[in-house]
Amino acid sequence: MFAVTAARIDAEDPLAGMELGERPDPVPHDGWVTVTVKAAALNHHDVWTLRGVGISADRLPIVLGCDAAGLDPDGNEVIVHSVIGDPDAGGGDETLDPRRSLLSERYDGTFAEEVSVPRRNLVPKPAALSFEEAACLPTAYLTAYKMLFEKSGVQPGATVLVQGAGGGVATALILLGRAAGYRIWATSRSEAKRDSAVKLGADQAFANGARLPERVDAVMETVGHATWAHSVRSVRPGGRIVICGATSGDAPPAELTRVFFTQLTVTGSTMGSRDQLGRLARFCEQTGVRPLIDRVLPLAEARDGFAAMIAGDLFGKLVFVP
Ligand SMILES: NC(=O)c1ccc[n+]([C@@H]2O[C@H](COP(=O)([O-])OP(=O)(O)OC[C@H]3O[C@@H](n4cnc5c(N)ncnc54)[C@H](OP(=O)(O)O)[C@@H]3O)[C@@H](O)[C@H]2O)c1
Repeated sequence: MFAVTAARIDAEDPLAGMELGERPDPVPHDGWVTVTVKAAALNHHDVWTLRGVGISADRLPIVLGCDAAGLDPDGNEVIVHSVIGDPDAGGGDETLDPRRSLLSERYDGTFAEEVSVPRRNLVPKPAALSFEEAACLPTAYLTAYKMLFEKSGVQPGATVLVQGAGGGVATALILLGRAAGYRIWATSRSEAKRDSAVKLGADQAFANGARLPERVDAVMETVGHATWAHSVRSVRPGGRIVICGATSGDAPPAELTRVFFTQLTVTGSTMGSRDQLGRLARFCEQTGVRPLIDRVLPLAEARDGFAAMIAGDLFGKLVFVP
């Protein structure tokens, strides 16, 4: 089958280690099924893999891609949950299983014509969502769902700041948060992306680091170094910062004095459970929210898609079709 593979790690030039071409068809383990991929969404995770973050060279070559929607062997339309883990080992939550991995970390991923996953990782795709839209849910949208609805601790009507508005997780936070009745403020490096964020449903958008009209109840952080100090300064006393990523680097000053003096809660968030993915799909069905797709490309043009993400030249998700 045709697939996009991480063949080598190159921290400086991630595209140098990417190969497009034939790979063996997947052979499912016991209890696993093979899904025919109809659409697969790109995440920053795929760039990290090529840079060698979260994976070691002995796992290569490995097919890239965390997210997919497609057809199971009986022809049912399904969304593929990316977290390969045992809920029992994580106190009922597979994201807390110490041995959990995402597709493309230990097992071949979704940038291929077929992907093999445990049967429990299949979630029915609502008919109302296209395959391209459904393929956006398992990583970016599920992460945003858990950040907002499990980790933030704030209720509808609260003000939530989303840093780095243009990203896949960030646009998901804007769309889901708006649909749930939060007042969403967003920041972006780019004026065009700030305008797009407001069109998407943000109440207001600001340049990175800008002083806000008032402090917010919660901050959704995916950017890390470039926005961390602003996040700590922007949240009200007793408020919360939920962090799921550090695209610009993970070594900012921790701002410890401000964290304790204003009694902030800083909480990490990673992916979500299979059951949360099912509820997210229903949330989209019920609210009419549809993932924002910047562009759809043939899988054979994956190199162009990765380059756009590395350049920061996206607003929303990029989806590949095999
Ligand atoms: N923990 C988890 O389970 C989980 C799940 C999903 C994602 N993540 C992580 O979350 C991060 C975002 O993922 P994604 O797929 O949404 O990535 P993405 O689509 O590439 O978005 C990255 C966003 O970060 C902002 N950004 C990047 N570099 C910046 C800089 N130097 N200064 C200011 N802003 C910068 C950009 O916002 P603007 O261009 O608008 O300024 C960009 O839109 C990644 O690090 C990813 O690994 C973690």
